Amino acid sequence: MDNASYAKGLEGVIAAESRICKIDGENAKLYYRGYSVEDLAEHSNFEEVTYLLIEEKLPSSDELARFSSNMRSGRDLAPPILQMIQDFPKTAHPMELLQSSIAYLSGYVKHRIQHSSNCDCKQTLHQVAQICSVIAALYRSRQGEDYIAPRTDLSHGTNFLYMLRGSDPEQYEGEIMDKCLVLHAEHGFNVSTFTARVVASTLSTCYCSISAAMGALFGSLHGGANERVMEMVDAIGKKENVKNWINNALDRKQKIPGMGHRVYKAKDPRATIIENYLLELSEKKNDFRAYEILKDIEKVFRDRMDEKGKPLYPNVDFYSGAVYRLLGIPSILFTPIFAASRTAGWLAHILEQRKDNRLYRPKSLYIGPEPLEYPSP
Ligand SMILES: CC(C)(COP(=O)(O)OP(=O)(O)OC[C@H]1O[C@@H](n2cnc3c(N)ncnc32)[C@H](O)[C@@H]1OP(=O)(O)O)[C@@H](O)C(=O)NCCC(=O)NCCS
Repeated sequence: MDNASYAKGLEGVIAAESRICKIDGENAKLYYRGYSVEDLAEHSNFEEVTYLLIEEKLPSSDELARFSSNMRSGRDLAPPILQMIQDFPKTAHPMELLQSSIAYLSGYVKHRIQHSSNCDCKQTLHQVAQICSVIAALYRSRQGEDYIAPRTDLSHGTNFLYMLRGSDPEQYEGEIMDKCLVLHAEHGFNVSTFTARVVASTLSTCYCSISAAMGALFGSLHGGANERVMEMVDAIGKKENVKNWINNALDRKQKIPGMGHRVYKAKDPRATIIENYLLELSEKKNDFRAYEILKDIEKVFRDRMDEKGKPLYPNVDFYSGAVYRLLGIPSILFTPIFAASRTAGWLAHILEQRKDNRLYRPKSLYIGPEPLEYPSP
């Protein structure tokens, strides 16, 4: 084995070609299939972005109408899935349920892959459509409340809030929820996406690939930083406490959640957009507590990083938890929502992997003992 090619954690290794996502970490730019996230957040919606990711182009209005109708009609959950959600241990994390439910949903689809590179992912859009329904059903079941059937007249984000609450959200709430789904839909070769592609490369089903990706996303180094951000906001309590709290944390070499990124060396473009949603929601609800604390954390943190010359800035998770909280969503659902959105990106990568497949099979650098003689009895 060539030691020179060893890269722990595959850092810096280019493992495949991809046409899906371009990230310019130095200049804080992110594009899905060539379109900037700023334009997509401003002008598009989650259904159109899902089409863009998996069909490789923006749809015409007819194509979008057909696609949306297909996705919307796939939102409802069959009684056995609802039963499974009810029977799942209430103490389990929703990500464990979500991962299991994908495998369970798979049993309701007639797969025609396994032996070829063809794939039925596009026909089984339920994965994208039904995950928000599973999350809403799970939350309501834990609250002792009945399942709310989905509506087909609502956007993906608005329908999710409707299924969660059992009542119509305000229009601006639905729009912000939908745009948050747009902003989390794709982000290159991160761990969960790579996991999905590795499993897809064996010609396993797209459900198995997505279920594996969900397992990867559950880990605290990947999903979940926005939950930690809100724990920090609660621990700080009020904006007057920010300076001392952050300085003490940094003096103790603690990492500040929601700050820093492996790829971005400037403020994550999604953080900039979500910060604006947070301001809008704070104004509408006349509740600026989290917004003010987060803005002050960013300022104190950035001052300290400037002193040290470290390019650490807010990432996508820094403001998103506060947005979800103002939308009435409990923090235990933050990572599941990330999964619901990212499933669109995972599907695009599974399709791309299958188009020009090569089974992933890296090597390890063996550092164990040389052949030993088995002790004689
Ligand atoms: C995202 C993250 C894992 C990227 O890590 P990375 O590129 O491997 O960077 P490292 O962990 O090696 O950190 C490099 C330096 O920056 C510091 N640093 C990185 N993130 C930091 C943070 N959030 N707060 C304070 N310091 C941080 C490290 O302490 C280290 O300092 P040193 O060189 O003096 O030892 C990391 O920034 C982090 O843990 N952030 C907080 C969790 C988070 O928000 N995750 C969601 C990512 S979308």
